[in-house]
Amino acid sequence: MTDHPGSDRRIEIVPSVLPADFSRLGQEVAALEQAGVDRIQWDVMDGRFVPNLTFGPDVIAACRAHAAVTFEAHLMVEEPDELASRYVDAGCEMLIVHAEACRHLHRTLAHLRELGARPAVALNPATPVDAVEHVLDLVDMVLVMTVNPGFGGQDDIDTMEPKIAELRRLVLDGGHDVDIEVDGGIGPKTIQGAAEAGANILVAGSALYRDPAGLAHAVSELRDLAEATRR
Ligand code: DX5
Repeated sequence: MTDHPGSDRRIEIVPSVLPADFSRLGQEVAALEQAGVDRIQWDVMDGRFVPNLTFGPDVIAACRAHAAVTFEAHLMVEEPDELASRYVDAGCEMLIVHAEACRHLHRTLAHLRELGARPAVALNPATPVDAVEHVLDLVDMVLVMTVNPGFGGQDDIDTMEPKIAELRRLVLDGGHDVDIEVDGGIGPKTIQGAAEAGANILVAGSALYRDPAGLAHAVSELRDLAEATRR
């Protein structure tokens, strides 16, 4: 096992539900679980923080009984404090808020923990790592966006790899028990760069749904590629 940063943390493959068939979301969620994913990420967009509109808490609640895996809500919204409890009630164990949307990030993250959720914070591509330096003790995970959020199917911004490595160093130097997630343009050609830089939670949308061999093949291929960076 190479001892590169983060190699002690479990690799997890997490689907973004954005490319799924919205007319049959319950079955799609069950199919993702059967395909061997470790969690399911719901991309929650409010049409203000990002120029797109997606899943209200009732949609997610309606899908909760269709799978047992952890649901995480990636809140791409302007006022996460206003909505957080409704996503916890909908069955999301982890809530991810954007540092750029929180005037009082420290208070917001503490509030998520009080709600019984696992708190996480996300960084847009242009936001520096030190925006979260003083809240690493409050979170279970930091999400480094590898695309500008709002849409699936974009190419990853490969200049994010040094940023992932800088964050992994900050986490290790501080002795924090924090996972690093990446999201946006992750697929067979890009996943190893992100994993080698220090990410251990890898979100993929279009790369899973466009695999002609199906979801299970796509999930295991991505997992094998990411884990190969550990050998
Ligand atoms: C974009 C979302 C991502 C996106 C990933 O704002 O946060 O989760 O759906 O999709 P791909 O893997 O297609 O870039």
